[in-house]
This record gives sequence, structure tokens and C-alpha cells, in this order.
Amino acid sequence: MRATDILKEEHQVILRVLHCLAAAAKDAERTKKLDTDSIRKSLEFFRGFADACHHGKEEAQLFPVLGINNVSCTPATRHILLAEHEEGRGYVRAMAENLEKYEMGDTTALPRITTLATRYIEHLTQHIHKEDECLFPMADSRLSAAEQEDLLKAFEKVEREEMGAGTHERYLAIANDLCKRWNVEPVASAHSCCGH
Ligand SMILES: [Fe+2]
Ligand SMILES: [Fe+2]
Repeated sequence: MRATDILKEEHQVILRVLHCLAAAAKDAERTKKLDTDSIRKSLEFFRGFADACHHGKEEAQLFPVLGINNVSCTPATRHILLAEHEEGRGYVRAMAENLEKYEMGDTTALPRITTLATRYIEHLTQHIHKEDECLFPMADSRLSAAEQEDLLKAFEKVEREEMGAGTHERYLAIANDLCKRWNVEPVASAHSCCGH
């Protein structure tokens, strides 16, 4: 398995949870009630898995190795991808703030959460497609087998030391809980180095 395959598999897990978030937002719009447990779990997943683990590996390991400031496969420049990660963090923060307000009894926070969720889903989905279709093929064509292997080892080291044992399984369990709740096909045994 190449380092880029790890990142691609993680994208598939993230996309599943985005489907769950879409279902939760649609349900909230219809019932005018928010399944706060699902939103809380989704935000925990996006913070811990999509951002800290997945974007962390891209930012600290993949981008520096590629040096993708001036690549021909625009618009996937490093600057744009980093800005998109930051924009995603903003959506997650705003959803968390509004979830807190909703839980304190502020029902006006509900439409703000569903709007933010819809924008976040759109945002992260296009970001993932951009990486899958442009960044990773470029990485695969540029990196030697030895460089892919070094990158894989670097992923494993960072996750073992920074994420901690069992972290990957914990986030997969959250993803599968959400899939079960929202009738989304569960995540298979995605191979990842998180927590291993
Ligand atoms: Fe990314
Ligand atoms: Fe990514």
C-alpha cells in the first residue's frame, strides 16, 4: 500500500460521514429538531479524523515532500489546498458554536447549523475530489517507490506518537455509528496507519 492509497481510503471514510451529516441536516430541516448526538459525533470525527489525522498528514508530510507550489495541475496548489483546510476548520468551529447555542435552548441556531453543514459538505467534497483527481495522481507520478515508502513510515510515526493507540479504531467506530443511524453503507475496514 502506498502512502497516497492511505489518504485515498481516508477520503472514502470522510465522504461516508459527510453523507451522514447531510442526512442529519435534511432530517433537522424536515422535523425542525436536531439530532444533537449525531452532530456532536460528526464534529468530533471531522476534528479528530478529517482534520487532525488526515489533513495533518497532508500538511506536515505530503505537501512538503511534493513541494507543490508551482505544479501544472492547478488548481491544486499547496496554497489553495491549505486555505481550503482552513476554511473547513472555520465551518466546523461555527457548527460547534451553534450546536452549543441550540443545546442551551436557542432554536434559531438550527437553520444556521443546517446551512453550515450543507456548505461544509459541498466544500469538503470538492476538496476531496480535487485531491483524488489531481494531487494524488501527481504525487504517484512524481514520487519514487522509496519516497512513497518513506512517506508511509512518516505517517505511521506521526500517528503513533501524536494520535495514540486505538485512535483510528475510535474514529471508525464513530463513523460506523453514524452510518447505522442514517442508513449509510458502513465503512469497511479502511486501512489506515492512524493509531497503529
Ligand atoms: Fe486536503
Ligand atoms: Fe485529503
